[in-house]
Amino acid sequence: MEKMGLNALREAFLSFYESKGHYRRQSYSLIPENDKSLLLIGAGMAPLKPYFAGLETPPSKRMTTCQKCIRTGDIDNVGHTDRHGTFFEMLGNFSFGDYFKKEAITWAWEFSTEILKLPEEKLWVTIYEDDDEARQLWRDMIGVPEEKIVALGKDDNFWEIGTGGPCGPCSEIYFDRGEEHGCGRPDCKPGCECDRYVEFWNLVFTQFNKEEDGTYTPLPHPNIDTGMGLERIACVMQDTSSIFDVDTIKYILDEVVRVSGVKYQQGKAPTDVSIRIITDHLRSMVFMISDGILPGNEGREYVLRRLIRRAARQGRVLGIEGPFLAALSEKVVDVSGKAYPELEKMRTFVHKVIAAEEEKFAATIDQGMKIIEDYISEMKASENGVLDGEKAFKLHDTYGFPIDLTREILAEAGFEVDLEGFDQAMAEQKARSQKEQEMEGAGWEEAAADFVFEGETEFVGYTQVGSRSVIKAIVVGGQPVDAIKEGEEGIIVLDKTPFYAESGGQASDTGLIYNDNGSASVDYVEKFQQVFAHHITVKTGQLAVGEDLLCGYDEIQRNRTAANHTATHLLQKALQEVLGEHVKQAGSSVTADGLRFDFSHYQAMTAEEIRNVEEIVNDKIGHFIDVSTEVMAAKEAFKTGAMALFGEKYGDTVRVVSIGEYSRELCGGTHVKNTGQVGAFRILSESGVASGVRRIEAITGLGILDHYKKNENLLSDLTDAMKVTRDNITDKAASLISEVKSLKKEIEAQKQAKMAGSLGSLIDEAVEVGGVRLIRKRYDELKIDDLRKIADEIRAKEKNVIMVLAAVHKGKVNFMVSVSDDLTDRYHAGKMIKEIAKVAGGGGGGKANMAMAGAKDASKVDEALAKAEELLG
Ligand code: ALA
Repeated sequence: MEKMGLNALREAFLSFYESKGHYRRQSYSLIPENDKSLLLIGAGMAPLKPYFAGLETPPSKRMTTCQKCIRTGDIDNVGHTDRHGTFFEMLGNFSFGDYFKKEAITWAWEFSTEILKLPEEKLWVTIYEDDDEARQLWRDMIGVPEEKIVALGKDDNFWEIGTGGPCGPCSEIYFDRGEEHGCGRPDCKPGCECDRYVEFWNLVFTQFNKEEDGTYTPLPHPNIDTGMGLERIACVMQDTSSIFDVDTIKYILDEVVRVSGVKYQQGKAPTDVSIRIITDHLRSMVFMISDGILPGNEGREYVLRRLIRRAARQGRVLGIEGPFLAALSEKVVDVSGKAYPELEKMRTFVHKVIAAEEEKFAATIDQGMKIIEDYISEMKASENGVLDGEKAFKLHDTYGFPIDLTREILAEAGFEVDLEGFDQAMAEQKARSQKEQEMEGAGWEEAAADFVFEGETEFVGYTQVGSRSVIKAIVVGGQPVDAIKEGEEGIIVLDKTPFYAESGGQASDTGLIYNDNGSASVDYVEKFQQVFAHHITVKTGQLAVGEDLLCGYDEIQRNRTAANHTATHLLQKALQEVLGEHVKQAGSSVTADGLRFDFSHYQAMTAEEIRNVEEIVNDKIGHFIDVSTEVMAAKEAFKTGAMALFGEKYGDTVRVVSIGEYSRELCGGTHVKNTGQVGAFRILSESGVASGVRRIEAITGLGILDHYKKNENLLSDLTDAMKVTRDNITDKAASLISEVKSLKKEIEAQKQAKMAGSLGSLIDEAVEVGGVRLIRKRYDELKIDDLRKIADEIRAKEKNVIMVLAAVHKGKVNFMVSVSDDLTDRYHAGKMIKEIAKVAGGGGGGKANMAMAGAKDASKVDEALAKAEELLG
């Protein structure tokens, strides 16, 4: 058997199965699609679940992939063992109701013995204990000796994901590394805990679906799902026991070693753990980010943040100063970029995201480490072995220390964390913020709460400005009624409507409805399933169920909203052009007044990027590009590359909005007919709303006119107030600023002079208490800084003096106690000030010669100063 590199092994496998009629597909993203049960893809079959379950038709009944996988369940072992890693690649061949056990076994054997040329005598197999068919195939068809077929129970040879899904009995192939790696027991064989037999290929005979309640339902047809850990088989082919010695991984590890300057000793030195953790986590973070995951505080984003921060901290353990992961990420791209083009494509992006996260963490890691060290000393002193959950939460919340990082650092010192307490603190914080959100969200729903809307409203507003409609229902105060009269507010349901209901981030239309009996304003429209609920206020007469009426929306408002909506599509596309393909919509709000667009991006945009985006959008507006809409089958739309919202469910048919060839998006909103109708586009602000999410606020067309009108008015007010002409306003402002500056200086100088003058008299005012000169004084015009200056000057000149000063400024009280250095063995300023400030309802502290405090009660200042005498006496 010849040594084979990992990249060559991957290719050998995929082309072998291709030659057996399998459709070879590029790895799926690490982000599960339409699958809420998983955070990250952790097996070759995970993205194929709908095909196994018969819910969707696969592109071919035979498929083969090399799937990127992340599993963090054993993260604590990573670095400490030869085999554990959070990232790995899984080779697999799959049959969806096509071939079954016979072919799966035949080809696995053929690939192992003829392509990889593994010596037959070194191969063993295991089967599920009841699976006579598999036993017979291995024994009679392949010729594996009976004693090398090991039957194992459900724990070992029944494959399923904990949360459920396609599963079944399995059969595994093992490689015997030789007696020297074994435990020496006479009955040592596959299934034994020792290192002798390496399990490298798992053939699952997928026959069941494990339901949420834990029951197993037979699948419509039997399937094959196999999984071979690429790093594992590479270990076998490269005759090593450690994945960290596999060529492609070693390539990254060597660079970690070079950058850290710490020698790697094949897992024997404690620093090897750090080197291996960094190597492994680098792989995970690069693959995750190139699939569009950004570090954050929830779900998979948090997994990524933890990996980056954990690796960053291990860098410190190795003595690496400053950020280093971003540069190392390039090595992962270098070695895997060919097989995974997305890495190459996202190289710079990955680099930037990691650099940004390293920088963010660097800002708090030292403070956090210091706090953890303090906690550790406290725990050592108090002999308490468990860190309080609240404290761990504070580290998480304020210093960005993921809980497993805290846990890891404490474990190194021999301590634990109260994880329950941590979870509770976290849950409490979540509940607090949820409550805040709920309070914000309360509103319209309440009005409609008791009425169940059924049926369907036909929406005619894409093409019509108005309609003649029939009133189907009226709801007032949550109850259905027959009629609604002048002055009343309620909800009205029509058979058809031209009013756009709020959805997809676009605000609803407003307008008027009327007939001979009455009229009402339509203030807001929302949708319950297919029913449009028009919130109205009756202006004249009354409206009753069954009546006809005329409806019309406010056209100017609709047109302005449409302009902003089309601009939002242009904006998204322009952002992708300027910042990169990773830009995805994270939320949007479109009204007649302007637009707000939230999108994924890892750092603030530069002024130049903002300008570029704005120019691109204006350029598209200037080219008068036609905007068209089309309803088509969802599958067709995705094929043409229309942008869709990730994780959003779409029906069988979708509406696609196209702006010429420039942009195609699935969208139900209303748009202008030609980009020229947008008029112009102006970005007002760019800001961060959450980790990895930016927000742009912008206006268009007449909205820009409004904006500049407002600015005009502001300017007029300013010129009036400053009594200058427009042309002179800049000069005037500059001269005012410099005037204020010099006045401030003058005042400061006067204050200093006054203070200097008063210092002498201050000493004269001293009273003697117990042989010490005591100065007490209240200043009503000074700030705490001024007090400090007075104290410093006196202390520099005088001995045997204690000063107790109070400054009352804008209702706030500050105290200061200063003890001359010759007295500090007898009097402690920090202790004295506590007593003094207490009198006026405050607190503070400080050193023996100088202390400061704040207090609230200005009326108690004199009493507090008097306290000083008592303290000396
Ligand atoms: N789905 C099987 C595994 O992950 C092949 O081991």
